[in-house]
Amino acid sequence: MTAKERAAARAEAVRVAMMQVRAIEVAQGVTRQAIADMRDVLIDLAKRRDLFPLEDFPPPEATTARKNALYRLSEDPDHRFALYAQLSMGGTNSPAHDHTTWAVIVGMEGQEVNRLYDPTDDGAVAEREQFVVEAGTGLALMPDDLHSIHIEGDAPVLNFHMYGLALEQLDRRRYYNPETHVWKHFPASEGIRDLPAPA
Ligand SMILES: [Fe+2]
Repeated sequence: MTAKERAAARAEAVRVAMMQVRAIEVAQGVTRQAIADMRDVLIDLAKRRDLFPLEDFPPPEATTARKNALYRLSEDPDHRFALYAQLSMGGTNSPAHDHTTWAVIVGMEGQEVNRLYDPTDDGAVAEREQFVVEAGTGLALMPDDLHSIHIEGDAPVLNFHMYGLALEQLDRRRYYNPETHVWKHFPASEGIRDLPAPA
């Protein structure tokens, strides 16, 4: 398969998967079962590993401090149902945060440790469990669910990240600083890359 053929096959596989995801939301709304079903759609998509080779998702340029690159695979005209491929080069430790919309993470290459938290009565967070996102597994989070992500080593990690609303639109995601016990907001994301469209 040429790179061009692969891009076309990938776009088609993504299109079909996102149709399934939208249909789940129409039928069930946003419930734990619905987002688990959406996760399963992406786990199936991730099995088409031939369509998502590392070479198609280059890491951030060495001149930037960024350790990850986010590639937009799909987004509706109203910015809903945003699917990205995220390539991380390790050394990631995020604070505990929410998303203000539903979120699904599914693994393709490498391991991303997710810590899941409950809010505590005094306004802090308590770790409840850890979950390793890797090939064949995924995590589905409701808008208020709290998680943090951790990647060790410097081997590339490639995951799907899918959100109810595009990351550029999300400017009210809260994160918790355990040293100051203060919650702040992440700014909306920028620097998301588009893959070249198949000719
Ligand atoms: Fe997150």
